[in-house]
Amino acid sequence: MLHYQNNHLYAEQVQLASLVAEFGSPLYIYDAADIRLRCREFLTTFASLNPHIHYSVKANSNLSLLRLLHGEGVGFDIVSGGELARLQAAKIDLSNVSFAGVGKTEAEIRQALQAGVGFFNVESAGELERIATVAEAIDRPARVLLRLNPNVDAGTHTYITTGKTVNKFGLDFETGADLCNRFYQHVWLQIVGFHIHLGSQIIQVEPYLTATRKILDFIALRWAMGQPVGWLNLGGGFGISYERGEPLSLKALAAALAPLLHSQGLKIILEPGRSLVARSGVLLMQVQYLKQTKEKTFVIVDSGMHHMIRPALYGGWHKIWPINQAETNENLIVCDIVGPICESTDFLAQDRLLPPVKPGDILALFDAGAYGFVMASNYNTHPRPAEVLVDGDQYRLIRRRECYEDLFASELFDNDIQQSF
Ligand code: LLP
Repeated sequence: MLHYQNNHLYAEQVQLASLVAEFGSPLYIYDAADIRLRCREFLTTFASLNPHIHYSVKANSNLSLLRLLHGEGVGFDIVSGGELARLQAAKIDLSNVSFAGVGKTEAEIRQALQAGVGFFNVESAGELERIATVAEAIDRPARVLLRLNPNVDAGTHTYITTGKTVNKFGLDFETGADLCNRFYQHVWLQIVGFHIHLGSQIIQVEPYLTATRKILDFIALRWAMGQPVGWLNLGGGFGISYERGEPLSLKALAAALAPLLHSQGLKIILEPGRSLVARSGVLLMQVQYLKQTKEKTFVIVDSGMHHMIRPALYGGWHKIWPINQAETNENLIVCDIVGPICESTDFLAQDRLLPPVKPGDILALFDAGAYGFVMASNYNTHPRPAEVLVDGDQYRLIRRRECYEDLFASELFDNDIQQSF
């Protein structure tokens, strides 16, 4: 979908240089056809499990993308009242939605119950008790999956590992069993199943299998205790290939899971985020300066860690390449691609090979459709970029660029009071 043609980068039929000319830089661009294709591939690959797909809204929560994904028949995984409000604004049916996260406030629980959210993925005893209290107070029973922590190492970056007992997520099996014993018969709670999520950017099949076996044993015990459940949510985390390494093979994962789950009669939920949207997106940026020091060549651009924090936060690697030059191995320079933020962690790439570039050139940072804009900030009081969605030979601005006034619009500032200090 994103491809070079005659040395120019295109998203489908739209040349990206023309979008920068129209909407300015830096600029996020997403390709609708890519997202549709990923959804369909995902559904086909896991067809043997007949899963409900709950797209993880945190990966990219732009309303237009949520509508697009809704059109593909997927449900949603949310982690805040804000993400719920986004689904409501996008007029999305909430029955196929799970509400996860360790810190749900009473107000968020009430908001979700009143809105008719399908499932709560519960992470602690305190949360379960709070949901029961709110459900009773507003006369709406809550459907619950308990999130278990299987203590499985998913072999991913420690900052995005969630399925180990040192992580804040989920319940150890003992606590999970105890909560089932105490709450299974509760009038305002229906414990209908269990949830696991091991981490993100996982590229091995094995951790999923180990965790699934553990949780199936746990479910068998619940049945033996007279606590039947019908739902199993295996979470997300399906890794893609940012560099040239192998991504997680969804086919291999589906093939390995199928025999485990075949005879269980469980309804399966999967929560992909990154794997559906990451590859659809690029972040375009303009080269401002080249700066040569004794040690390094810096390519200074008008974007940085404030628009794409993955390199600074997790050592994330993203391909970066000029939009007016097809890939080549000739005459490359070694450089750091850095932004304007006053932090030494403000890099998008270090010791990277690039063709020679000059001020004014536009670079594309690839695989920016997930955990890009959603993690952007206004640090150093920079407006966040605009976002454009390409579909075939059409394109649409789906978020306007922030202006300076947006940045302090919510600040309360009284000129008169200020003067009296
Ligand atoms: N389900 C749950 C409960 C999650 O916590 C997450 C992601 C997902 C599903 C979706 O995971 P995915 O399929 O996108 O890997 N900012 C990090 C990733 C953090 C993921 C947090 N949870 C990054 O840029 O790599």
